[in-house]
Amino acid sequence: MMLRSDAIERTIEFGRALAKLLENDDVVVLCGDLGAGKTHLTKGIAEGLGIFSDITSPTFNIMRQYDCDGGKVLCHWDLYRLDEIEQLDDVDFYGMLESGCITVIEWGDRFPEALPDDYLKISISLDSATERTLELEGIGPRGLALAQGLASMIAGAE
Ligand SMILES: Nc1ncnc2c1ncn2[C@@H]1O[C@H](COP(=O)(O)OP(=O)(O)O)[C@@H](O)[C@H]1O
Ligand SMILES: [Mg+2]
Repeated sequence: MMLRSDAIERTIEFGRALAKLLENDDVVVLCGDLGAGKTHLTKGIAEGLGIFSDITSPTFNIMRQYDCDGGKVLCHWDLYRLDEIEQLDDVDFYGMLESGCITVIEWGDRFPEALPDDYLKISISLDSATERTLELEGIGPRGLALAQGLASMIAGAE
């Protein structure tokens, strides 16, 4: 399933829509080059979860955690600066996945073996300065439900 964004606000809107579907233990993996819009999509997800603090790529501290409405927690990872999969143990990546939060992972595709069995994968490609294509792929049943749910919400909104 593909979504097209023609402006940064649209990408943020996609994130807000996705947030309405997200429950504890859900995992969203964001792929795409630097500047694709992974962090802006996450900003939309955070807004949809009731978080309005500044969302930046947690590139230097690898993970940032936010308390959301309704007792949910958002864990936002950026694996760009990790070189080896073993480093994921040092930052308690696996422990956090099991901790019952909503997990968003920028550059999660760098370590495919580290990803759980079931997640929503969103691959963003840069089509022009302002246009992006977001490919939604459900890996496992929950990932598929999220992909279909998001696609139908966006279709319904247009
Ligand atoms: N349609 C769009 N969606 C998302 N970002 C866009 C879009 N058009 C332009 N941009 C720009 O692309 C950049 C995306 O940055 P960011 O979200 O930090 O990317 P990433 O986290 O993938 O490296 C920002 O500078 C943003 O202004
Ligand atoms: Mg980023």
